[in-house]
Amino acid sequence: MKLTIDDVRSRFIKHFDGATGSVYASPGRINLIGEHTDYNGGFVFPGAVQQGMIAEIKPNGTRNIRAYSIDLKDYAEFSLDDPKGPSASHFRYLFGVAREMMKLGVPVEGFDTAFAGDVPLGAGMSSSAALESCYAYAINDLFGENKIDKMTLAKVGQATEHNYLGLNCGIMDQFASVHGKAGNLMRLDCRSGEFEYFPWNPKGYKLVLINSCVKHELAGSPYNDRRKSCENVVAAIAKRHPGVETLRDCDWDMLEEVRGEVSETDALRATYVLGEKDRVLAVCDALEKGDYETVGQKMYETHHGLSKEYEVSCEELDFLNDIAHDCGVTGSRIMGGGFGGCTINLVEDNLYKNFVETAKAKFKEKYGKEPIVIDVVIGDGARKLC
Ligand code: GLA
Repeated sequence: MKLTIDDVRSRFIKHFDGATGSVYASPGRINLIGEHTDYNGGFVFPGAVQQGMIAEIKPNGTRNIRAYSIDLKDYAEFSLDDPKGPSASHFRYLFGVAREMMKLGVPVEGFDTAFAGDVPLGAGMSSSAALESCYAYAINDLFGENKIDKMTLAKVGQATEHNYLGLNCGIMDQFASVHGKAGNLMRLDCRSGEFEYFPWNPKGYKLVLINSCVKHELAGSPYNDRRKSCENVVAAIAKRHPGVETLRDCDWDMLEEVRGEVSETDALRATYVLGEKDRVLAVCDALEKGDYETVGQKMYETHHGLSKEYEVSCEELDFLNDIAHDCGVTGSRIMGGGFGGCTINLVEDNLYKNFVETAKAKFKEKYGKEPIVIDVVIGDGARKLC
């Protein structure tokens, strides 16, 4: 499905008595490599996709947000000034973003809004970051004279997850949604906030997502436990090495020093993160040389680490990864937080057709339904449409 302005505008007009407002969009994301490295101060390699969220918004002269979710056919009205906010999570994103923008001093007023998206939910493509970034961008434009810079807008989305949804996520998803640029991946140093655009045009290869349709629900999930494990290891290392703040600052020797002091599980999680740090750097080198074989090999290694060390895979994703390997696909791995969602695959053009057909057929034979194939087109970040 390709969502258009009209899909949203027609519903907005119907719902809010013929009025029109301003329309904004913000995308979901893919990530080439660097998974669970963002909250460990490491590097990530995301890009925005063409699928995203579109919202129409019109100030209504009250202190209330009146919001209509087109996809869920759900409506709610809630006050900007009542700290409790709405209970449904799809409205809490809007509420959280508005409140976080108020904290930054933006004079947010009440508004009417309708929104819809074409990022598959629970696929690990960051539909929630798309929603947060769309409203952060819109509120900055409508009420804040665009004074808030883009990285701060991304942090508003992240703070919304932490403070209103209970998910202690990193910055990657919101960063990618706000900063995306068509045709470019971005390498972000999550410790310093510095980033670079990397034109993405791998001649002879495609990126394709295979959505297992196993719904991943990160909020209230073991995601926060993974983050806690990393922090436990850092706390043990910091006792001997003051100044160490995240796993970014740690090396293999430091992990060995504390192996007896942390739980086996925590040590295993840290093993994954240290390995992933090395892999991201290897991929950066390989990309500069146009060496996609190495990029792909590192993607398989990441999958192995996410499955066996970080333990955020599931049977269906491991199965899709095996199929990719058997079909000669250059690289394949779980994308995003894990626990379901998609694999991301780097596949040579001439193997593409056989791979997607085999993946669909074998998956259906085993699980009774076909996975969804999503060709990756790298799109633009948050913007005003009209
Ligand atoms: C989720 C989080 C991100 C990041 C990824 C894993 O998408 O929102 O911050 O941690 O998982 O790389």
